[in-house]
Amino acid sequence: MSEERSIPQTMGQQFGRRSWAEPWKIKMVEPIRQLPRPERERAMAEAGYNTFLLRSADVYIDLLTDSGTGAMSDRQWAGLMMGDEAYAGSRNFYRLVETIQAYYGYKYIVPTHQGRGAEHLISQALIQQGDFIPGNMYFTTTRLHQELAGGTFVDVIIDEAHDPTDLHPFKGNIDLEKLQALIDRVGPERIPYISVAGTVNMAGGQPISMANIKAVKALADRYGIRVYLDATRMMENAFFIQEREPGYEDKSIADILKEFCSYTDGAWMSAKKDNLVNIGGWLATNEEAVFERTRNMVVVYEGLHTYGGMAGRDMEALAIGITEAVQDDYVRARVGQVRYLGELLTDWGIPIVQPIGGHAIFLDAKRFYPHIPQDEFPAQTLAADIYIDSGVRGMERGIVSAGRNPETGEHRRPKLELVRLTIPRRVYTQAHMDVVAESIKAVWDKRHDARGLKMVYEPKYLRFFQARFERL
Ligand code: F0G
Repeated sequence: MSEERSIPQTMGQQFGRRSWAEPWKIKMVEPIRQLPRPERERAMAEAGYNTFLLRSADVYIDLLTDSGTGAMSDRQWAGLMMGDEAYAGSRNFYRLVETIQAYYGYKYIVPTHQGRGAEHLISQALIQQGDFIPGNMYFTTTRLHQELAGGTFVDVIIDEAHDPTDLHPFKGNIDLEKLQALIDRVGPERIPYISVAGTVNMAGGQPISMANIKAVKALADRYGIRVYLDATRMMENAFFIQEREPGYEDKSIADILKEFCSYTDGAWMSAKKDNLVNIGGWLATNEEAVFERTRNMVVVYEGLHTYGGMAGRDMEALAIGITEAVQDDYVRARVGQVRYLGELLTDWGIPIVQPIGGHAIFLDAKRFYPHIPQDEFPAQTLAADIYIDSGVRGMERGIVSAGRNPETGEHRRPKLELVRLTIPRRVYTQAHMDVVAESIKAVWDKRHDARGLKMVYEPKYLRFFQARFERL
């Protein structure tokens, strides 16, 4: 036998592969630990099988949400020291306004404490009792604010979005025929605005194309209907346009973002996602009258119109976050990490929403636990089982999240019954993604033994946050 031992080749040498990597390195770390299994079992039971009710200290890898959970850069932390904590007219507010104007292109800005603060203002300002608000799939807080303002949300997303196996490249698109049918049925005067989200959270982080938003805008203009954008994850949407839409491959994320926003009349934003801060939000509009109304309302509900619930330092970190979030290499690595996790699961035959979206992997609980009926909460069960297996925390996005129809009191039964594993921005490494994937695989291998849940406590609003369950 030869003394020579073969040197294992790296993938790069074997295939000439060129990987992406994060355009940053780690300067500070936060220790995390994995509880022993009996303690995880106890913690999950005490939390009523609702991952929202776990203590974060009991969580190992936290994929509950990408909201406010990202890591700030050294520049942003330095920015915190530049906070001008004046009650009125903070320097940081003006910088924030200029930054939003520069990158999103809107004229008028109202700061809010987070996304739902902005949703509240825009819904109250634009919606009258009995109005209809068409949108590309509901989001929990967005729809609730539309309903609380007297409106009815109408889903006009393309049918493909409700099918987790359909490979349409833009599953966030609005179905123009559905939109036209609603206009014909209720009349344009009953539609204060079209509610467009980029990317669509509940559909699996799926993008909407530039061609579609242009067409929506053209249709809306014909009837004098406004188009408002939920810009929460627009950087990721811009990435998918760059990747998939002919004519955009050489355009920058920043250029695509600005063009997209130019087809809308305004936007609301949860800055806790794509703007890379732990807290913050804003409302933007090109309409002076809407600005005047919402700027007046913000002082009632959020804070003065030059801080809206944020500290001066928060606004500084937010302004810097926007400039970092539009960088092509950042967005590529961000979506690349999500895709890395999704591809591991796909390779093992584990059912997830395809194509892989921008901020999260969505496990298809209907195919994961086909023996558990929707009334026994298969996605809620799966999220609990994953936590018990490894301490990885995801969240339910199915029948519990969908809530009840306010008129009939019945469960809404969404076609999608999903568990979301949401990747915080700039926080976890590829090794963490491996651990997550291996845990999902372990739960998949034992899937036939799984037992569903029954709901034992249900709050009135947004029940998924606080509902409690027991094992059947
Ligand atoms: N719009 C979208 C698309 C969202 O995903 C969220 C929040 C909001 C609006 C509301 O913003 O939380 O700042 O008040 N989504 C979080 C999530 C909670 O986990 O997906 P917020």
